[in-house]
Amino acid sequence: MKEQDVVPYRNRVKEHAVKMGMGLVNQTKLITAASELVRNMLKYGGGGIATIETISQGRENGVRLVFADKGPGIKDISLAMKDGFTTGRSLGLGLPGTKRLVSEFLLESTEGKGTTVTIIKWKNG
Ligand SMILES: Nc1ncnc2c1ncn2[C@@H]1O[C@H](COP(=O)(O)OP(=O)(O)O)[C@@H](O)[C@H]1O
Ligand SMILES: [Mg+2]
Repeated sequence: MKEQDVVPYRNRVKEHAVKMGMGLVNQTKLITAASELVRNMLKYGGGGIATIETISQGRENGVRLVFADKGPGIKDISLAMKDGFTTGRSLGLGLPGTKRLVSEFLLESTEGKGTTVTIIKWKNG
């Protein structure tokens, strides 16, 4: 994933959400979360792979996004999840803000190995 892939990626996320009938509010939340995680992956992870899947669990349908990079990883995950924490001189609302926008949020990171963030937005969640 590179800078020029961001807009097409966002469009693909939107296509998946529209196709499975997600409402506009949840679509917007999902796309906002996706944008932030892609930006983190490029800025801190040095690139990586972003995948999009439509999933279902029982009667609920959703979209799952995975962002995996082989960057430096995150030393202190609980610190990185705090509002206002940044090593990049930005607002630092990215990770905690993203968590608030989605239904499920999983951050796995190993120092020196990389970071994988998985999010799910359920259609009605
Ligand atoms: N993919 C990543 N790889 C390494 N570090 C990351 C990654 N994503 C986030 N971080 C670290 O977590 C911090 C908090 O991220 P975030 O909440 O998005 O705030 P911001 O992007 O504004 O710095 C970042 O400043 C960075 O240190
Ligand atoms: Mg960020």
